[in-house]
Amino acid sequence: MASTQYKTACVVGGTGFLASSLIKLLLHKGYAVNSTVRDPDNHRRNSHLIALQELGELRIFRADLTDEGSFDAAVEGCDIVFHIATPINYATKDPENDLIKPAIKGVSNVLKSCIKAKSVKRVVYTSSGAAVVVNEFDGTGLVMDEKNWTDVDFLTSKKPPNWGYSLSKTLAEKEAWKFSQENNIDLVTVIPTLMLGSSLTADIPSSIGLSMSLITGNEILINALKGMQKLSGSIAVVNVEDVCQAHILLAEKESASGRYICSATNTTVPELAKLLNKRYPQYKVPTDFGDLPSKARIIPSSKKLISEGFSFKYGIEESYDQTVEYLKAKGLLE
Ligand SMILES: NC(=O)c1ccc[n+]([C@@H]2O[C@H](COP(=O)([O-])OP(=O)(O)OC[C@H]3O[C@@H](n4cnc5c(N)ncnc54)[C@H](OP(=O)(O)O)[C@@H]3O)[C@@H](O)[C@H]2O)c1
Repeated sequence: MASTQYKTACVVGGTGFLASSLIKLLLHKGYAVNSTVRDPDNHRRNSHLIALQELGELRIFRADLTDEGSFDAAVEGCDIVFHIATPINYATKDPENDLIKPAIKGVSNVLKSCIKAKSVKRVVYTSSGAAVVVNEFDGTGLVMDEKNWTDVDFLTSKKPPNWGYSLSKTLAEKEAWKFSQENNIDLVTVIPTLMLGSSLTADIPSSIGLSMSLITGNEILINALKGMQKLSGSIAVVNVEDVCQAHILLAEKESASGRYICSATNTTVPELAKLLNKRYPQYKVPTDFGDLPSKARIIPSSKKLISEGFSFKYGIEESYDQTVEYLKAKGLLE
């Protein structure tokens, strides 16, 4: 099936874990990249992007999801737009204003700029497993695919821990589909699960803190990981590099359409802990999690992505090895 090598891509939210890794790959592939950041004057947050300018043509623009029109300049002349940015704040007391509204508004603001630009052939929007797998199913082993959506009524009525982020990702992706269908925009969405790997960012990404908590022993984050299993029905993981490659494949492959789950391995906290305890005995990973089930309730399926010719480079062991090395290099693990 035909693939097109486009010339210019816009990456919305370039400072982030996924976005900065994607920019690096796009520059390696010869793309000219326009990236938006909220504060181009913040040297600490942008230094890794400035460093990437050595690799090719990378221009940095100021834009905010909540500011209509602020994406116009960055999107102008681009063939592909990767909308990756999203507000992430697990500690917020006001999910409506801190997460949900800006995520939804951000989608329509970015897409409005795409319409104005007239050059954009496809928009690739980064959603999340949190927009697919959250529901009250209480059996085991339910396979979920791109037809499934997170249960919005459950989230809004029961408000389980971290409901705001899941709701923001679900409603933002729904808005992306509605707006694109109404305005004839070619949209593809990528649905990653918890991302591992090494990061270019100055700070350790929140998903690495979470996925590595069993190794670092951070109790608050171990509890958050257990909460993730309760909410999502499993711990599903994927390497950031594979997620970047999936974004590029789905941008370039003309026949790609709809939603694509991108998840390499499905496990649970007790099963993951056993694996990590055996692989890295030096970190004394705990293995007793009381009555937390060791069988997954829910299994997100990447079958559709694989049917497009995609293969995952990293399994769970390789991804953890890489992330352990990354934290060691940062001086955060012995
Ligand atoms: N990490 C994971 O495990 C995971 C799993 C599934 C899906 N995802 C999705 O993948 C995407 C990237 O995640 P990530 O982990 O790479 O996130 P990240 O490192 O926390 O980056 C988030 C980005 O969003 C930007 N942002 C936040 N609020 C904004 C606003 N109001 N206006 C403009 N930009 C704003 C941030 O910019 P500033 O630098 O200005 O703060 C930052 O660049 C997100 O859509 C996330 O939902 C992530």
